Amino acid sequence: MRKIGLVAVGTYVPEQKLTNQDLERMVDTTDEWITTRTGIKERRIAPDQMHASDLAAKAAAECLAQAPTHYQPQLLIAATSTAEKNVPNQASLVAQKLNLSNLAAFDLNAACSGLVYALAVGWSLMRTEGYDHTLITAGEKLSRFVDYQDRATCVLFGDAGAALLLSADAPEHEILAVELGADPSGADLVVMGGPGDEYYFRQDGRNVFKFAVEKMGSLIDRLKSRLDLTDDDRYFVIPHQANSRILEAVARNKRLPEGRIITNISKYGNTSAASIGLALKEAWAEQRFAKGDYLFLIGFGGGLSWAAAAIRW
Ligand code: UT7
Repeated sequence: MRKIGLVAVGTYVPEQKLTNQDLERMVDTTDEWITTRTGIKERRIAPDQMHASDLAAKAAAECLAQAPTHYQPQLLIAATSTAEKNVPNQASLVAQKLNLSNLAAFDLNAACSGLVYALAVGWSLMRTEGYDHTLITAGEKLSRFVDYQDRATCVLFGDAGAALLLSADAPEHEILAVELGADPSGADLVVMGGPGDEYYFRQDGRNVFKFAVEKMGSLIDRLKSRLDLTDDDRYFVIPHQANSRILEAVARNKRLPEGRIITNISKYGNTSAASIGLALKEAWAEQRFAKGDYLFLIGFGGGLSWAAAAIRW
């Protein structure tokens, strides 16, 4: 089978910050509650005229700028659950904004698991259908679906874009394995964008919390056993950023040394499919990973859905 590597990550966040202090003036909440229950201090909000596809395109432009110019994507998968239009799909809008042509382009909605789901699909098509370069984007404008009068949800989300470039020419940072799944019995636990009352984001926070902790733990075990990792192998988890308490619980359950779960939720909140890209980009820039380390990208969320990918650094 062909080897496929991760070449670059790009991200974009809008300039405007919405801080916990701002939210204290909008709903009955406190910085203390938000910080201790979620780990979030601030998030970014896109202006009215900036759409989810713009966030994805800006991240994609940054991503492509880091790669050789002949790495032209032949496949573009746009992970999003907040696309501004149903048609054209976000992938076509991103390709148009970047002047890309001669490519296959489609959207993939797996809520907060979307980026890793899209990575898995892209990886698989590259291995079986011969695509050499694939762009995966996540453009999420959650602020469009947030009820800023509901304190239980409005403190959680931010807007952002992220993009990954995969190449068959670059076996460095090789993608080794993926795991995808869904539990439709939990489909009603996270709802957004529907008719009537189901337009604004709503969730059963406590049950989703439990699901996330258990599923992240079992995905870590599964990837370790599929890759035959021993205690001498060092792995990092780059998870969907929904709540720092979820990540702390996983670190405790798995007895992970300090710093092995990458988190930057305090600055951006939950940015759905984009969040793993934001965390990965920052940790990569800080040179947190050494050659031979393993990275486990793990997404979970609405559906209920989950997706994990293992990369050897
Ligand atoms: O990305 C999609 C996947 N989603 C997730 O992974 C989310 C998983 N769940 C969570 O992260 C947490 O459940 C939340 C952060 C959403 C909520 O935290 P919680 O500890 O589960 O709080 P809760 O919903 O059980 O609420 C506890 C209390 C309630 O008051 P009472 O009923 O105990 O008097 C809420 O009304 O906190 C109250 N509350 C707030 N108080 C101040 C809820 N939101 C707020 C707020 N400020 N913003």
